Amino acid sequence: MAFDDVVRLAQRRGFFFKSAESYPNSPAGFWDYGPLGLAVRSNVLELWRRLLVRRDGMLEIDGAQILPKSVLEASGHVQSFTDPYVKCAKCGSVYRPDKLLEEKTGKPVPEKLQDSEYDSLLAQAGVRCSKCGAPLTGTGRFNMMFRLGIGPLQEEAYLRPETCQSIFVDFPLLYKTQRVKLPFGVAQFGRSFRNEIAPRQGLLRLREINQAEIEVFFNPGKADAPRFAGTAGDLLTFQPPQGGPVTASVSDSVERGLVPNRLAGHYLALLLRFYEAAGLRRDALRLRVLPDEDRAFYSKAAYDLEARLSVGWLELVACNYRGDYDLSRHAAASGTGFDVDDDGTKVVPHVFELSMGIDRTVYALLESSMGGEGERTVLSLKPCIAPRKVGVFPLVNKDGLQEAAGELNAALQDRLDSFYDESGSIGKRYARADESGVPFCVTVDYDTLKDGTVTLRTRDTRAQERVKSDSVAERIVSETAFPPIRL
Ligand code: GLY
Repeated sequence: MAFDDVVRLAQRRGFFFKSAESYPNSPAGFWDYGPLGLAVRSNVLELWRRLLVRRDGMLEIDGAQILPKSVLEASGHVQSFTDPYVKCAKCGSVYRPDKLLEEKTGKPVPEKLQDSEYDSLLAQAGVRCSKCGAPLTGTGRFNMMFRLGIGPLQEEAYLRPETCQSIFVDFPLLYKTQRVKLPFGVAQFGRSFRNEIAPRQGLLRLREINQAEIEVFFNPGKADAPRFAGTAGDLLTFQPPQGGPVTASVSDSVERGLVPNRLAGHYLALLLRFYEAAGLRRDALRLRVLPDEDRAFYSKAAYDLEARLSVGWLELVACNYRGDYDLSRHAAASGTGFDVDDDGTKVVPHVFELSMGIDRTVYALLESSMGGEGERTVLSLKPCIAPRKVGVFPLVNKDGLQEAAGELNAALQDRLDSFYDESGSIGKRYARADESGVPFCVTVDYDTLKDGTVTLRTRDTRAQERVKSDSVAERIVSETAFPPIRL
């Protein structure tokens, strides 16, 4: 399915909407989740908590969204969190030169060129303003953080550009109060804010993003500890900067230097297990190894977990080996000790990060589960991810069938996410449920009143079977359950 098909379906069924859509000039890059999108997002997060956070006994925090300038100076964001931009001298339209060049030439453009290099490439490729046709030159840098003023004195602060900064700043307190030992992970789900220059891809490039980030702190001298053996045989597929893809087990990847250590390989493997459990195919996932010029300023080694979709390979997770960059910088700037005792050795822990884009993950799950024939659209989301688990319908709206269906729905709602629908023909109700990803439907008919059975219909096979009404809840609870924590 194409990007536009997914967005149309998502808007029609209430997965997500452009924010403030009824106002004609509302800015791009802001989207609201509707009830179904929010339910999918919550389910994705529950799976993330189970397969990564809880599986590994990580700590989860929820930090402030506004951070003082001093924190973001120490992190490097005030100086370095910039994107190139070019403004049309004639009509004032603003663009990202790297994106314009990619669109014109069909080739990726590194993010870290000099401003003058962008100008030369724009001239060579003959790129012009899409609004007025003037040539474009004069590339400059734009800091993507949203700046705020706190209190009447307007002390400078920013909306956080990544959730993880509070994890780093809180590290000494977490270490002290939670009685943890290296290695351990700290997780956080929340909003981050990036003042993107010209977001044009709907849910794929937002100014307000939902991130689920994990920072694993470890002693760099013990990153190959045997504790990480549970995933040693898992296969990882890498796309290096040059040449074709390479597939290797976690242990081979460590030996061949494809990943910096066993700990990093272990978490990459868990991440792939998570995406497969959420509904993406393994053969449509890869770890793109970022070349030096594309790595973030804090990163020693970086992998983008990408999914193959209609828009091409889409980055879903940034995986960064951040070394001791963050803890050392915050230690120096704050004057606080960020080193810890690890079995008698003082160490500033290193960090391996899994920074998951939740909005893109939701998009990827919708697109890759969307199918159907002719007019029929089916969203074959994994049952644990589906926004509603079952719809309950009376066959006709008379003779007590509505009341019986309403009672069954109320009973099911005690155990799972069930809804009632009596509007339109039964075929239309099935079609709406299929399009919304609902894995099961239950129809109450005249036989229900006689023998207590109902029709249970399964979305993906369209199979219908007769089952006892009082067994439906148990059956659907078990078929829509999350997978075990240790897959
Ligand atoms: N924390 C990494 C990122 O936001 O990309």
